[in-house]
Amino acid sequence: MTPGQGPGRILLLAIETTCDETGAAVLEGPRPPATGVPVIRSSVVASQIDLHERFGGVVPEIASRAHVRQILPVIDEALRQAGVGLGELGAVAVATRPGLVGALVVGLTAAKALALALGVPLVAVDHLEGHLYACQLAYPDRDVYPCLGLVVSGGHTSLYACQGPIQAEPLGGTTDDAAGEAFDKVASLLGLGYPGGPGVERAARLGNPRAHAFPRSYLHDARLIFSFSGLKTAVLYALQGQDARATGAAPAPDVVADVAASFQEAVVDVLVAKSRQALERTGLRKLGVGGGVAANSHFRGRIATMAEERGVELFIPPLALCTDNAAMAGVALPKLAAGQIAALDIDVTPGLVRPGR
Ligand code: KG4
Ligand code: ZN
Repeated sequence: MTPGQGPGRILLLAIETTCDETGAAVLEGPRPPATGVPVIRSSVVASQIDLHERFGGVVPEIASRAHVRQILPVIDEALRQAGVGLGELGAVAVATRPGLVGALVVGLTAAKALALALGVPLVAVDHLEGHLYACQLAYPDRDVYPCLGLVVSGGHTSLYACQGPIQAEPLGGTTDDAAGEAFDKVASLLGLGYPGGPGVERAARLGNPRAHAFPRSYLHDARLIFSFSGLKTAVLYALQGQDARATGAAPAPDVVADVAASFQEAVVDVLVAKSRQALERTGLRKLGVGGGVAANSHFRGRIATMAEERGVELFIPPLALCTDNAAMAGVALPKLAAGQIAALDIDVTPGLVRPGR
């Protein structure tokens, strides 16, 4: 008998197609209503970066079509790597919100078909709760909750007071661009490729973070809100000042490095300051961080220093669990334990909704 077949264990297939990564994972955990942190038996991600790269951002229709092509092979590969047959699955989980509508529909349709065919529960999860649950998956021996949750990704920059994995109370978020979106747009201005985060991070290593005094919106504002669109415009003006855009010439490497470093410093200053402010306000003693921007090593260092100074326990997943993946949809297990099974006529919710609802 494999571990997942035991009476006390459940094998979960998790599916992620909210944006431009097709993901499937197999997790094994205590059979609900028992609770406990599941183990990741496999996690497969098929990236679409090469398809979107030349557009400098995700093209929704291209993303949907690529999900259609990749979803079944990715699920097969996740099952193969886990050594699990379809008949051994005890539940199917899928991120149904928020995200690109066409992309979400592909994952949900696959999940519904499998749940129906196998006669197992379907669990709909929130992608942002998933990003935070990645912290719990990464630290299975420690209690992540209650914590302040910070999601910093390509689509979101949000703070939550999380009493548990499926009890995230929104505290605030961005009023315009997400932090990752700003990284992507600035990378495009600097000719650093897509997605922008890793390219900006690499260029920033050689630059002076104080070369440009870029804006830090809402830094001294009592509200827990963010804005990154002015920062992006300031970068554009800084480059135009160098005649880079005006002449169509690529900015010189030292200009790129200084702009990248100053931009990254501005984003990180704000993310760290707002997290500190939210910790002070809520009195929470733990901080969980998720989303693609949490892969940034300068950010990781700075947020770790702030947490240490405040005596706050920091949970920040390894890189593969920061960027989009299906394992984080393992947040389905606490949902299942709470009896939150989705009906087979459930629809996707593309827009940002209040997590926990
Ligand atoms: O969480 P994620 O994979 O997808 C969304 O849910 O949006 O985040 C993707 C975002 C992209 O904007 C990407 O540029 C950013 O995360 N990112 C980074 C780094 N790696 C990925 N941003 C800054 N530094 C990085 N090293
Ligand atoms: Zn994400």
